[in-house]
Amino acid sequence: MKRRSFFSWGTAGLVALCSAISVSLGAVVRFLTPSVFYEPPQTFKIGNPADFSFGPPTFLAEEKIFVFRDREKGFAVANAVCTHLGCTVGYFQSDERFHCPCHGSVFGADGTVQHGPAPRPLEWFEVTLARDGKLRVDKDRVVPASYRLMVS
Ligand code: FES
Repeated sequence: MKRRSFFSWGTAGLVALCSAISVSLGAVVRFLTPSVFYEPPQTFKIGNPADFSFGPPTFLAEEKIFVFRDREKGFAVANAVCTHLGCTVGYFQSDERFHCPCHGSVFGADGTVQHGPAPRPLEWFEVTLARDGKLRVDKDRVVPASYRLMVS
C-alpha cells in the first residue's frame, strides 16, 4: 500500500468515526432532554373593568375567551373553545348564541348545547378582581354559567 493511499483511507475512516460519534451524541442528548410542552399560564389579567363595554361580549383571541359585562349582573367569562374538537366558537349578537364554524354546534347564551355534535356545554371561568384593580381570569377554575363578578 502506498503511503498516500493509506492517508486518504485513514482520513476517510476518521471522518466516518467522527460522524458516527456526533450522531450518537445527538441521540443521547435528545434522549436525556425531557419532552416538555409549555402551556400558556392559566391565570392571567385581562385589563381594567372600564376597558370592557356593556352589551356584546369582548372576544380576546389570544386567551380564547369571551368577556361579558352586564350592567346589572356584572362580569362573566366564557371559554371560546368548542367542546367537540376544540375549534374557536363565535358569538352572534343577532341570536345571542355561540356558533362553532367547524361542525355546526350551537350553544345558548349560557353555554348550553342547543345543537350538536358538541357533547358538553361551554365552560365558564372564574373572574376576580386583583389587588391592582385589574380583572383576573383563572382557567383552572370552572364556575357555573350563573357566576358573576360585580364591580362597582
Ligand atoms: S369543533 Fe365545534 S362542532 Fe366540531
